[in-house]
Amino acid sequence: MAAEKTKQVVSVEDLDKKAAAKELARLAEDIAYHDARYHREDAPEIADADYDALRRRNDAIEARFPDLVRSDSPSKRVGAAPAAGFGKVRHAVAMLSLSNAFDAEDVEDFVDRVRRFLGLDQEHPIAFTAEPKIDGLSISLRYEAGAFVRAATRGDGAEGEDVTANVSVIKAIPKKLKGRGVPELLEVRGEIYMAPNDFAALNAAQEASGDKVFANPRNAAAGSLRQLDTTVTAARPLKFFAYGWGAVSKLPKTSQFDMCQAFKGWGLPVNTDMVRIENVADMLAIYEDIASRRAELVYDIDGVVYKVDDLALQDRLGFVSRSPRWAIAHKFAAEQAITVINDIDIQVGRTGALTPVAKLQPVTVGGVVVSNATLHNGDEIARKDIRVGDWVVVQRAGDVIPQVVSVVLDKRPKKSKPFVFPETCPACGRVAEQESDAETGKQDVVRRCPGGFACPAQTIERLRHFVSRNAFDIDGLGEKNIQAFYDLGLIGVPQDIFSLEENDKTQKLRLKDREGWGVQSAGKLFAAIEARRSISLDRFIYALGIRHVGETTARVLARVYGDAESWVVAMTSAAADSDSTAYTDLVAIDGIGTTAADAIAAFFSDADNAKIVDALLANVTPQPLESVAVESPISGKTVVFTGTLEKMTRSEAKDRAERLGAKVSGSVSKKTDYVVAGSDAGSKLKKAETLDVDVLSEDEWLALIARA
Ligand code: IVH
Repeated sequence: MAAEKTKQVVSVEDLDKKAAAKELARLAEDIAYHDARYHREDAPEIADADYDALRRRNDAIEARFPDLVRSDSPSKRVGAAPAAGFGKVRHAVAMLSLSNAFDAEDVEDFVDRVRRFLGLDQEHPIAFTAEPKIDGLSISLRYEAGAFVRAATRGDGAEGEDVTANVSVIKAIPKKLKGRGVPELLEVRGEIYMAPNDFAALNAAQEASGDKVFANPRNAAAGSLRQLDTTVTAARPLKFFAYGWGAVSKLPKTSQFDMCQAFKGWGLPVNTDMVRIENVADMLAIYEDIASRRAELVYDIDGVVYKVDDLALQDRLGFVSRSPRWAIAHKFAAEQAITVINDIDIQVGRTGALTPVAKLQPVTVGGVVVSNATLHNGDEIARKDIRVGDWVVVQRAGDVIPQVVSVVLDKRPKKSKPFVFPETCPACGRVAEQESDAETGKQDVVRRCPGGFACPAQTIERLRHFVSRNAFDIDGLGEKNIQAFYDLGLIGVPQDIFSLEENDKTQKLRLKDREGWGVQSAGKLFAAIEARRSISLDRFIYALGIRHVGETTARVLARVYGDAESWVVAMTSAAADSDSTAYTDLVAIDGIGTTAADAIAAFFSDADNAKIVDALLANVTPQPLESVAVESPISGKTVVFTGTLEKMTRSEAKDRAERLGAKVSGSVSKKTDYVVAGSDAGSKLKKAETLDVDVLSEDEWLALIARA
């Protein structure tokens, strides 16, 4: 059975009961089929986005017709139980992360961004919530008709681990919600943590019994939750705070604050330190207050989270990349320690950049052992005069790479010499140059090895990037195995991954017979590779590792060009000629600047790269983005906004259009479907008229998308 894909479906609002029941039956069958392909055979037939769309539709129909929820509904069951370990759970609503603010200016910028996006000036009050940022592990708890049915870890945000059995034994998490107004379906999001005194007691007991001690309360909480034997979890003092939600059949409140109050009423633990405030000064005052109480709190925190309170505004603000625009984490200052630099290594990155790394005498900074710190580049080393043998102050903030802040000059050994930055690549010996900016002529501080795939270090890094979590994400092909296969000569360029199984058949020593491998693990790896012959186009583009093309840019490109072939054809033309329409179209895309466009052109101008892309496309079928996810009058249409909009800002208009499946372009061409003209529209409006493109007023546009 194949997936019933792009069939245009009736909107959930328009379904009658009979049609809904029929569709739920079909969805239960389809989803069960795809679950089995995915979980049992590691061989999915459809792209993740398409699968998510099926589940979302199922959830939406169930939310509208709660009495039609089937006993075999996909919402009651996740995946096919795996033999060992934890099953995977696809989150109906992605679990995202927060962007960070490190100082008052970042907080001001956040509030300004919110105002700008919504088009609200200083006169217009916006309420925010402020609450401690718990340093634990995030969890999603699913309640149906008030009863706990499933728990999943965050995982990569789209898919986590099924820890239902473990969460079932955590006393702090209610198994039945009480009180009135509990939605039929409610996914509670929050943090599982361990109190610092419980952590100390646990570690003391672990040490006494010769068991593993944990580095910090967060690791202890994670380790305690992820136990195959749930009696171990039950014996650990795990606690929980609820602060958010995922899928909900009907939101009972209209603000963040009131939702948390409702949670409390239903018996969920919430943080009593959450407050409602209105401006940056309040935020900073709360931040200082919480920071001053940090040591006394009965939970570890690493900052304060501010969220726009009004849920309607949250909805308008939406997300950028993996974080909501409506929230930010204001992190506490970095923790510092001093230690000695034993050596300075030069690492060669994916794009050839030579990065100096300080090899440190291991030291504990904020609960984590640090033995490497980035030194950024040669200029930075010279500016701080960092030398091998120096005592240095190192710091670590949140998840960022540890840094060397300064040298403790009093402790400098007498015979130390300034560090001389190498001029050649330590991996391949090529001269590593500092590029100059084409326009300003300013020399880049970074030295780059020009070797590309001819340089072994760059090759390894590119391959690692190719299989990394947000790229091809091939189970069983992590950094270690990439290195091993490269050393064995089995993988040299990305496309080799897809011939691994075929080539293995002709090897004297087969993979299954190699040390650390077996029939099962080799078979599993090959299956995981096979599964990735179908991958979403944005992941494919991101995986290529083009400079300045991160996940967000890759998604923009995937959305605009639609399919791999069109993208490659256009990029090749853009690379060949910067006067071509292909190039001008590329630069005109909202969200793509000249830096990214030039990097893409440079990538495609390189014959090796072009060959790799071709070879990959012979092996892999990139899938267009979420084509089935959005049904709207503007899905697939190309829209250009021009002039001044009155009812929403340009950013919000663009965001809304994209969420409804349209492409937003910065320039009008024959391919444009609609030009939305605000007041004072100029040349783009004229061009639209010449090309006979549909021109809509702002109100006409709003009426059009209101039908979505
Ligand atoms: S709200 C859309 N509130 O911080 C994401 N997160 O760095 C909304 N966290 O993954 C998250 N305390 O695990 C939120 N009071 C709080 C939090 C909190 C801790 C964690 C959460 C999230 C991570 C992001």
